[in-house]
Amino acid sequence: MLKIGVLVSGGGTNLQAIIDAIDSGKITNAEIVTVVGSRPGIYALKRAENHNIPSIVISRKSYDSAEEHDMAVCRHMQSCGAELIVMAGYLSIVGSGLIRAFENRIINIHPSLIPSFCGPGFYGIKVHEAALERGVKLTGATVHIVNEVCDGGPILLQKAVEVKSGDTPEILQRRVMEEAEWEILPRAIDMIANNKL
Ligand code: GRF
Repeated sequence: MLKIGVLVSGGGTNLQAIIDAIDSGKITNAEIVTVVGSRPGIYALKRAENHNIPSIVISRKSYDSAEEHDMAVCRHMQSCGAELIVMAGYLSIVGSGLIRAFENRIINIHPSLIPSFCGPGFYGIKVHEAALERGVKLTGATVHIVNEVCDGGPILLQKAVEVKSGDTPEILQRRVMEEAEWEILPRAIDMIANNKL
C-alpha cells in the first residue's frame, strides 16, 4: 500500500480528485497518510477533515528560513512514513533538503503543457493568463517529477485541453482542472502505486 503525503495551498480540488479516485477504485493500492497545508484556513484542509485524513499546517512564516521550513515538512513526511509526496496546488517552495530526502518521489501537477508557460512566476491563474496572451489553441496540464529545477523534472503524464474563443483565464483554468488535472494526477498516482511507471 503506497503511503502518500499531499501538499496543499488552496481550494484543494486536486486533493479532492485524489480522494475521490481512491474511494472509487480508480487509484488502487494507495492511501493518503497526511495532508500538509502551507497556511491555515484553506478549504483543502476542510476536505481532508471531511474524509478523516490527518492534516497539519506547516507555514513558512513559522520558520526563520526557507531551509528550516523545508526540513520541517521533510521531517513530518518521514514521521508519517510517506513514500510519495504529491504537490496538489502547493505554492510554497520545495527545497533541496526535501527533494534529496525524497529523490524521484515527489510529483507536481502543473496547469500547462510543459515546457510552455512554466518556471518561476508561472503558477495558478497566471499560467492561463499567459496562455491566452500568447494565443495558443491548445493548453493542458502536466504531471512531472519534482527536482531542483522549477517545473523542470521528468514529465510523467500530460493531457491537452482546447482553448475556446471568449475564454477568460478563470474559464480556461476551470476547464484545464476538470478535463486534465483531475484526471492525470490520480492516474499518475495509480501508475506509481502499481509500478506501472
Ligand atoms: C490551480 O490553479 C491548479 O491548476 C494548480 O493549483 C491551483 C489550485 O489547485 N495546480 P487546487 O484546487 O488547490 O488543487
